[in-house]
Amino acid sequence: MDHFEYRGDELYCEDVPLARIADEVGTPVYVYSTATLERHFLVLRDALVAAGVRGERGGDPLIAFAVKANSNVAVLRTLARLGAGADTVSEGEIRRALAAGVPPEKIVFSGVGKTDAEIAFALRDGVAEINVESEPELQTVSRVARDLGVRAAVAIRVNPDVAAGGHAKIATGKSENKFGVSFAEAERLYAKASNDAGLRPVGVACHIGSQITDLAPMEAAFAKMRGLVERLRGEGLHVERLDLGGGLGVPYFNQPTPPSPADYAAMIARVMNGLDVAFAFEPGRVIAANAGVLVAKVTHVHVRPEGRRFLVLDAAMNDLIRPAMYDAFHDIRPVRPRDGEPLVYDVVGPVCETGDTFTRDRALPPLDGGDLVAFMSAGAYGAAMASEYNSRLLVPEVLVKDSGYAVVRPRPTYEDMLARERPAPWL
Ligand code: LLP
Repeated sequence: MDHFEYRGDELYCEDVPLARIADEVGTPVYVYSTATLERHFLVLRDALVAAGVRGERGGDPLIAFAVKANSNVAVLRTLARLGAGADTVSEGEIRRALAAGVPPEKIVFSGVGKTDAEIAFALRDGVAEINVESEPELQTVSRVARDLGVRAAVAIRVNPDVAAGGHAKIATGKSENKFGVSFAEAERLYAKASNDAGLRPVGVACHIGSQITDLAPMEAAFAKMRGLVERLRGEGLHVERLDLGGGLGVPYFNQPTPPSPADYAAMIARVMNGLDVAFAFEPGRVIAANAGVLVAKVTHVHVRPEGRRFLVLDAAMNDLIRPAMYDAFHDIRPVRPRDGEPLVYDVVGPVCETGDTFTRDRALPPLDGGDLVAFMSAGAYGAAMASEYNSRLLVPEVLVKDSGYAVVRPRPTYEDMLARERPAPWL
């Protein structure tokens, strides 16, 4: 459930008409709903708690929001206030989480290529855990920690070698992907880390992919993770935490229906029944996707003589790259639908490549220049992946709460864009 709905002939975000935001802030613009962000976080947390999935000292499990899905500090702060942690993959993301008020003891640092400087930053700021993805990285974390005179809390990220469905570019859990180590490696590295003055192994982690709509591969991976925890403990090693990653899918346009948070939680409770460990999760999409839309304006409609009808928008692939990159399908809704029979459109942006096509052959109510449309389910991996390609200004972000809103990332000016560059002395 989300808080974007038609009231009369107008699409609203909570109690704010999207057309009002478009008028006042301009388009394209991302609009997020506080109520939806909060609801999605709480539904997931409550489902896990109700199923008996616990965290440290029997409290709530750690829900570390994957900052890469939506890194806006106001969004992160909204979630942090409810108790969310942060799953981060760069110094920039750690800084964003800290700026949003996420306590360091709820920040997890993941990623396959952390630099010495990033590791040192994370350790100095006291992040809860570094998820280590390979043996060379384990050695680096140990060296950096010893140089700083600390013992780094690490979890070993395992690649469970299961195919999780979803688009090939976002599957991470097969051994041919770059993420994590095998189960055998994990056991060896865990034992090694336990005898390392720079390391304090606290647990194991996995994340098998994103936009997963079938629980079976997750269940298979999680059962293997349970086995690993038991084997490590059998060897006398201390395992406190089990991080099961993110990956739960959301309903996109005409795509398979994902499992509910309650089904996901029940599956975890079943697989982990009786295992005494503090659980952590790294959800991104399931919290943020349906909490955001991208509002764009129709620049004009171009009808070719043979009949193909192009809906040319002022938003482009640089603002929302998912269709170009993953063949993703976002529902597109007119902000103020006109009467009339639907027409079939190719919905495109102004960027100079054919890939700048949001969708082809989509039936939509009749639209004309100046009309507004909303790309639904764009709150995750939307603004976070936006760029200035074609020297288009970075898309702004707005956060709605009840009948008010705040521009939480303003649109830069062209002067801002140019001021970032410097002339070469010989030019
Ligand atoms: N944890 C780790 C280690 C991850 O790599 C990811 C996502 C997550 C958690 C969060 O996954 P989620 O719950 O959001 O599925 N840009 C792509 C998605 C890339 C996902 C990368 N990793 C897209 O737009 O579909």
